[in-house]
Amino acid sequence: MMDLKEVEESLKEELQKAESLSQLQQVKAKYLGKNGLITQAIDHIKNLPPEERREYGRRVNQLKEKAEELLREREEDIKKSELQKRLSEEWFDLSVPLEPATGTLHPLSLTLRRIKGIFLSMGFAVIEGPEVELEAYNFDMLNIPKDHPARDMQDTFYVNKEGYLLRTHTSPVQIRTMLSHKPPIYIVAPGKVYRRDDDPTHSPMFHQVEGLAVDKDLSFGHMKYTIETFLRSFFETDVPVRFRASYFPFTEPSAEVDIGCVICQGEGCRVCKQTGWLEVMGCGMVHPVVLENCGIDAEVYQGFAFGMGVERLAMLYFGIDNIKLFFENDIRFLKQFR
Ligand code: DAH
Repeated sequence: MMDLKEVEESLKEELQKAESLSQLQQVKAKYLGKNGLITQAIDHIKNLPPEERREYGRRVNQLKEKAEELLREREEDIKKSELQKRLSEEWFDLSVPLEPATGTLHPLSLTLRRIKGIFLSMGFAVIEGPEVELEAYNFDMLNIPKDHPARDMQDTFYVNKEGYLLRTHTSPVQIRTMLSHKPPIYIVAPGKVYRRDDDPTHSPMFHQVEGLAVDKDLSFGHMKYTIETFLRSFFETDVPVRFRASYFPFTEPSAEVDIGCVICQGEGCRVCKQTGWLEVMGCGMVHPVVLENCGIDAEVYQGFAFGMGVERLAMLYFGIDNIKLFFENDIRFLKQFR
């Protein structure tokens, strides 16, 4: 016959030593398994003389219950300490900044957003016009005569419909706006334009932003202030700006706008062709003929207009030296811009 007291003591000892659930499982098998010590003691009851059976049976059953309870308690303890261990070993630093693989905005989109933002802040509205345009709006009504070199097949993409073309500049949006709106008008019109040009500084499709203001008492001074304010805001420095007399059929007087070279600070470099200046846009006072073409009384209203190349501004701002990079969609190039 087994000494039940001894069995209980050794069970308690082994339970204390068991530190994992698998070790606990072994202890359980040793005592309560098929051939376990307590199971054997229970089996033994039937071999006892009837007078001992009752007392011994009671004690064995008590021990079995006690053993089950001790095992349960130890299991709880082990689970708790295993959880504690995991919590202290495995942890996430929630303050680490996550950088998910997101796309980036195209440098031209970024540049367009900035240009629009600056003009919006000066009270201009942003509007758009169609890329397939009437020849009349792209040329005739802008006072570009039929024999003007810009009309040459060299420069213009014509489409298969008489009187239509791919706009060669955003200036036709001026015509559309003046035909559909009464002054005062203050708009900028960003968009794609098309020319039969293709070299490291010219692409057959590129972007322009047109500006138009029509109001009473508008002067060249208002235009100068608007353009200078825009350029200094765009380049985020107090760049030198100069207006050079020039010619456009739709403005009189006309000017080209130069800024001090942002690459060499005016010293002279490859980008500014050693002149220290960079041409960034054309502008002028809207020609009275153009106002009248759109039904606006040129005796009462004046206008100023300007047009700039977005790729050129983006190249100067970001320091990009080849216009093709904008259109090749090389991810290594694109992901540098945010
Ligand atoms: N349309 C001209 C071009 O594409 C740019 C331009 C010059 C626009 C003078 C204007 C302007 O509105 O006044 O080269």
